[in-house]
Amino acid sequence: MKLDAKMIRYLTSEDFRVLQGVEAGSRNHEVVPTPLITQLSGLRGGSGVHRSISNLAKTNLIAKVKNAKYDGYRLTYGGLDYLALNAHQKQKVVYSVGNQIGVGKESDIVVVAHESGSQRILKIHRLGRISFRTVKTNRDYLRHRNASSWMYMSRLAAMKEFAFMKALRENGFSVPEPIAQNRHTIIMSLIDAFPLRQIAEVPNPASLYSELMEIILELARFGLIHGDFNEFNILIKEIPIPNAEGKTLDDSEPATEENMRLEPVIIDFPQMVSIDHANAEMYFDRDVNCIKRYFKRKFHFESDVPGPFFKDARKKFIKNPGKRLDVEVEASGFSRKMARELEKYMQDVGANGDGEDSEGGSDEDEDEDEEEQSGSEVEVSAEDAQSDQVSAEVEESSKRLEGLQVSGSSRQ
Ligand SMILES: Nc1ncnc2c1ncn2[C@@H]1O[C@H](COP(=O)(O)OP(=O)(O)O)[C@@H](O)[C@H]1O
Ligand SMILES: [Mg+2]
Repeated sequence: MKLDAKMIRYLTSEDFRVLQGVEAGSRNHEVVPTPLITQLSGLRGGSGVHRSISNLAKTNLIAKVKNAKYDGYRLTYGGLDYLALNAHQKQKVVYSVGNQIGVGKESDIVVVAHESGSQRILKIHRLGRISFRTVKTNRDYLRHRNASSWMYMSRLAAMKEFAFMKALRENGFSVPEPIAQNRHTIIMSLIDAFPLRQIAEVPNPASLYSELMEIILELARFGLIHGDFNEFNILIKEIPIPNAEGKTLDDSEPATEENMRLEPVIIDFPQMVSIDHANAEMYFDRDVNCIKRYFKRKFHFESDVPGPFFKDARKKFIKNPGKRLDVEVEASGFSRKMARELEKYMQDVGANGDGEDSEGGSDEDEDEDEEEQSGSEVEVSAEDAQSDQVSAEVEESSKRLEGLQVSGSSRQ
C-alpha cells in the first residue's frame, strides 16, 4: 500500500462529500449501503452521487463490497489517506508530498513539505496490513470484531504516538517535534539523522551505550517503558564540535570524540507502556537486552556493569519520580481503555514492532495480496461491531488531541 499523492487534487467537491459520507458510514457499517452514502453526503440523490461513487471506486478511494444482504462500499486505505492528507493541507501543516522513505510493517513514512519549504515527516499507521498473514485466528478475530477495525486501530496508534511524543518532548526527551495528528496519521519534524542500524562505527561505543541505558532509565523515572527500543527506533544525530580555531571536521577526517558529538533521538511510540503495566519488567528487560545484544554484535562492545535492572528503575521511579507521563497521556485524551484495545489488537495481529525478525527480507508482494483480502473478501456480518458509543468517544478524544496541534503547527 503506497500513498498516492497524485490523486489529491482531482476530486470535485461532490466526490469529496461522498467520500466523507462513506467514511462517516464506516464508523458503524462494515459495508456502507448506497442510500446511506447519499444521505450522509448531504447531496441530493441521483446521478450525481452515483457518478461520484463510481469516480471514487475507479480511483480506489472506496471499494465495492458484495454482501449477502446488500451491496455497498467501504473506505480503502487510499480513501482514508486522502481524507487525512486533505485535512493536513487545510490546516496548513502540509503543503506538498514528497518521497516515501520508509515502509514498516505497520506504517509508511513519507517526507512532506510545509509551505515555507521546510520538510516534515508524515507517518501513516497501517495496522492490519499484516493481519491476514498466516494465522487463521487473526482472520477470525477481525471478522468477529469489525472489518474496519484496521481503520479504528490505526487511528488509535496514531493518537497514542502523538500523545506520547508530545508528552516526551515537553519533558525534555530527545524526540521529534509532534506537529499534528489526523485520523491514522501524524506529522512530525524531520530528524536529519540515520537510524543506529545504519551507523557502521561510533567513536566511543561505551559512551553511546551508557547514554542509551540512561534514556531507558529516565523514561522509567517518568513512568514509561518504550517497548520497542532498538537500532531502528534510535536515530543518531551527528553534531560536529568546532575545534579551537572554530573549524569543524571535513569529510576526509575521521570522526572522534573531540570533533563529533552523537545525539540519540528516540522515535516510534505506539507500543509504549506504563511502568505499572503487568508485563513492565519483561518490556524493560527486552529494551535493555536489545541494546546490549546490538552493541555486542555490531560494535563488539560489552559493558562490565550488569543491568540496568527493572528493580533499579523502579527504585529511582519511587525515590525521585519525574512527572508521570503515563498518567498525563491518559488525561490528554488517549484513555486507558483505548490503550488496552490497541494493545490487544497489536498482540492479536502480531504487530511486534520492528525489532522482531529484523533480518527478514521484503514481503511487499505478500502484503498486496493481504490488502486485497482484508477488503473485499471478508464476509461481512450484518452486525455493526463497533458501537456508536465507542466511535463517539474516539471522535471526542481525537478532537482533543488534534486540538493540541494548533500552537505547534504555526511554529517552524
Ligand atoms: N521524524 C523522523 N525523521 C527522520 N526519519 C524518520 C522519522 N520518523 C521515522 N523515520 C524513519 O522511518 C523509519 C520507520 O519509522 P518508525 O516510526 O520507526 O515506523 P515503524 O512503526 O514502521 O517502525 C525509521 O527507522 C526512520 O528511519
Ligand atoms: Mg520503528
